Amino acid sequence: MSKKVYIESYGCQMNVSDSEVVASILAKQGYQAAASAEEADLVLLNTCSVREKAEYTVLQRINEMNRLKAGNKELKVGVLGCMAERMKEQLLVEKKVVDLVVGPDAYRSLPQLLDEVGSGQKAVNVLLSREETYGEIVPVRLNSNGVTAFVTIMRGCDNMCAFCVVPFTRGRERSRDPQSILAECRQLVADGYKEVTLLGQNVDSYRWNIDARGNVKNPGEPVTDFADLLEMTATTCPELRIRYSTSHPKDMTDKVLEVMARHENICKYIHLPVQSGSSAVLKHMNRGYDREWYLERIAAIRRYMPDCAISTDIIAGFCGETEADHRDTLDLMAQVGYDMAFMFKYSERPKTLAARKLPDDVPEEVKGRRLAEIIEAQKTNSAKRMAGYVGQVHEVLVEGVSKRSAEFMYGRNTQNSVVIVPRYSTQFVVRRAQAAMEDCHRAGSRSFPPTNHEPRTIQEWRPGDLIQVRITSATAGSLQGEPVAPVNEPAMQA
Ligand code: 5AD
Ligand code: SF4
Repeated sequence: MSKKVYIESYGCQMNVSDSEVVASILAKQGYQAAASAEEADLVLLNTCSVREKAEYTVLQRINEMNRLKAGNKELKVGVLGCMAERMKEQLLVEKKVVDLVVGPDAYRSLPQLLDEVGSGQKAVNVLLSREETYGEIVPVRLNSNGVTAFVTIMRGCDNMCAFCVVPFTRGRERSRDPQSILAECRQLVADGYKEVTLLGQNVDSYRWNIDARGNVKNPGEPVTDFADLLEMTATTCPELRIRYSTSHPKDMTDKVLEVMARHENICKYIHLPVQSGSSAVLKHMNRGYDREWYLERIAAIRRYMPDCAISTDIIAGFCGETEADHRDTLDLMAQVGYDMAFMFKYSERPKTLAARKLPDDVPEEVKGRRLAEIIEAQKTNSAKRMAGYVGQVHEVLVEGVSKRSAEFMYGRNTQNSVVIVPRYSTQFVVRRAQAAMEDCHRAGSRSFPPTNHEPRTIQEWRPGDLIQVRITSATAGSLQGEPVAPVNEPAMQA
């Protein structure tokens, strides 16, 4: 009988993508995906260390594994990802329920580690690598809607932002072979997927066949930077919508913006984390840019793509942040007018530059109040941006049935806002019937058109359909609209 694995992903999209690589490695060992942790022989938690709260959530979940193990003595529990890397053997000592600890670069060793675990031992591999990209591993898509997928293009991060644990948990930056990226995208097209998100901690520093100093490694081979990779993906897979995440303001080039503007299938949406609107705080954060540089990058985006949506990450209450710094952040938010933002209270992480050098000196209640003000400001911004879309016609890729009501579908426009549309439309059928009637009248008939011109089907929108939608109303979180014409003419005959 085949064994079953249940993988839970916490944290960023990269972890979701890594879990799919893990599922692929385990599938070769005869593991199938379990529908729930209760049904599994192996539960893997792919974890996040980015904030203390993220780790706390996972530690609680690990405790719950005791109950599952009580009901299933054979169950094995593993911790993967950033917490595995950060806490290493300590996890096995503090949490007896854990059998297996595997860092983000060690997933290929899972088969051997599971053998050890099978023979009753505990197993750990948290070695980081300078080369591992899991390039040729074909991910097994988990919890997929069959429409959108993640494709990892690089791993690790060399930036050393003072607040960030990622360089310690995911190691040095390395890029994946562009040919393996394109092969994965082509396979996704063949499998019916309609959209990919290219993932990396800092996609703008993607580079292939060239080192950080600009020296070409193999003169016989082409050099590929992120703009080249975007262009190659857009032209190799013209039927795919392409997104990417995450950009870094210090590295985002005009070349990337120019490629985005030129290709209709590259979505007009950029996630550009600012972290703070104060140049002094940005310096303490070691971000490599100041407020003016950031605002110039925003202006560049708007120059190339006036309709591009922009989102951001903001940290409230970083070390040394004054009221004036905080007001600079609010002011920058008002200037940029972000479509969306992810907003956090600063949380000190072990080993980081800030933990070693800077006192975490903004009191908890001040952090809380500043975060609340930032969230409030963003609510206003989001509502303004979304209201601006009302009346426009947007191309929407349908992803699934709305969670609120089975009478509606949800999808996204190029700007990445969620758009809710009715699940069934009769509009095109009616339009065609009217057209048929006009034809009959033109032909001299005063009667209704023959029955084969009458509507036979009501249009049901399905995941993967691309529809033109007139936006009729907006909230801060989503848009509502009415389809105005099918783009890919799904199953309808009239
Ligand atoms: N405290 C709070 N937020 C953090 N982030 C990263 N590290 C921390 C931290 N120590 C936020 C940043 C980053 C996002 C993924 O998480 O805004 O862009
Ligand atoms: Fe969390 Fe960062 Fe690791 Fe992603 S890379 S899982 S956000 S700590």
